[in-house]
Amino acid sequence: MSAPKKLFIKTYGCQMNVYDSERMAEALGGEGYVETKSADDADMILLNTCHIREKAAEKVYSELGRFKGLKAEKPDLKIGVAGCVAQAEGEEIMRRQPLVDLVVGPQSYHRLPEMEAKTRAGQKVLDTDFPEEDKFEKLKNRPKAKRGPTAFLTVQEGCDKFCAFCVVPYTRGAEVSRPADRILREAQDLVERGVREITLLGQNVNAYHGAGPNGDLTLAQLIWELDKIDGLERIRFTTSHPNDMQDDLIEAHGTCAKLMPYLHLPVQAGSDKILKRMNRSHTAESYIRLIERIRAARPDILISGDFIVGFPEETEEDFQATMDLVEEVKYGTAYSFKYSTRPGTPAAERPQVDPAAADDRLQRLQALLTRQQREVQDSMVGREVGVLFEKTGRLPGQMVGKSDYLHAVHVADCNRDAGELARVRIVSSGANSLAGELIG
Ligand code: 5AD
Ligand code: SF4
Repeated sequence: MSAPKKLFIKTYGCQMNVYDSERMAEALGGEGYVETKSADDADMILLNTCHIREKAAEKVYSELGRFKGLKAEKPDLKIGVAGCVAQAEGEEIMRRQPLVDLVVGPQSYHRLPEMEAKTRAGQKVLDTDFPEEDKFEKLKNRPKAKRGPTAFLTVQEGCDKFCAFCVVPYTRGAEVSRPADRILREAQDLVERGVREITLLGQNVNAYHGAGPNGDLTLAQLIWELDKIDGLERIRFTTSHPNDMQDDLIEAHGTCAKLMPYLHLPVQAGSDKILKRMNRSHTAESYIRLIERIRAARPDILISGDFIVGFPEETEEDFQATMDLVEEVKYGTAYSFKYSTRPGTPAAERPQVDPAAADDRLQRLQALLTRQQREVQDSMVGREVGVLFEKTGRLPGQMVGKSDYLHAVHVADCNRDAGELARVRIVSSGANSLAGELIG
């Protein structure tokens, strides 16, 4: 028997890409590939790219350039570009970087085995179509490999919102929800392989409306179906849009014990003028009212957000409105970015904010968000939380896991295994994690 071929995947960007990389590895696993952590001994290299922020494409080209020597040494090495940069710039990549054998967009991963065979036959392959079929169904893995305690599960892809700064509607295409029965089967399978916590993924996850036996299901209805799976202990979902936060989902945060008290709900900005120009179709006020309703259903929920500063035509006053919104909401964690132009999006054509002013605003916003994050983390001290253990810690006997609120928690003298859930009292708050002790 010949030695297995080795696959090196480098993943950039969001959790959706992490999930897709796992599926690609499984698909090529069926063709005899095993994963390697080093590009040097790979027979195939895949860059799973992200296009959401600045100079993403340039970074991909410089990364590809680094494989030149490797390819010269190993002519059989195949190099592929996947993900959103592949989707956005497919032919351009082939033209600019001749050492690329394969360009594959996010909707075509189920065809990877055929594409790989074509590259082995010396062909160049480009596939960035948006097919109708469910790519994940075709990517079903063969052997039932054991999994860690947490997993992502894609339930929805694409977005029809067209925020003026964002490439997702162009790179991931129109919003598509997977049928509920397929998701439930995949979830059941994950649980049988050791998974205890599933994070439902989608660019616009709360717009989920996948087909069920009696019509479409909302995300909340899907969560209630998942809730019935024995052995599945925790459910999360990301990323949500404020306008799709329906009543049944808010209610589920108060009533579904498996649904964790954590919600990533990007607002992007606090000025109604800027929100309008971003094409967000909500106001600062409507977002704040929404947060109030969510907190009424689940008072201890931890709110996370995304922010963009320096969006075209943002004045100091507009920026202040973002700071005011942050003060009012109080975020447990957040991601903030300086606006960067994405060619082909509406905002790219507009007058840009002075970069020094944008840098300064980003610093001030991040200082405020960091302070809030610290306050929320520190406020956990003395509280009892659920922790799902994921791995052993650096110290003997120590285990590390995540709290219900997604804080990393270290527990000393912990006679528990990865995959076990425990009640833990938080005793101290460190730089990036909490320390706790088992209760009972
Ligand atoms: N510039 C800066 N940040 C962006 N994001 C998306 N597009 C851009 C852009 N052009 C941010 C948004 C989004 C997160 C995933 O990335 O805040 O919610
Ligand atoms: Fe992009 Fe999210 Fe807006 Fe969709 S809702 S366009 S994914 S920022």
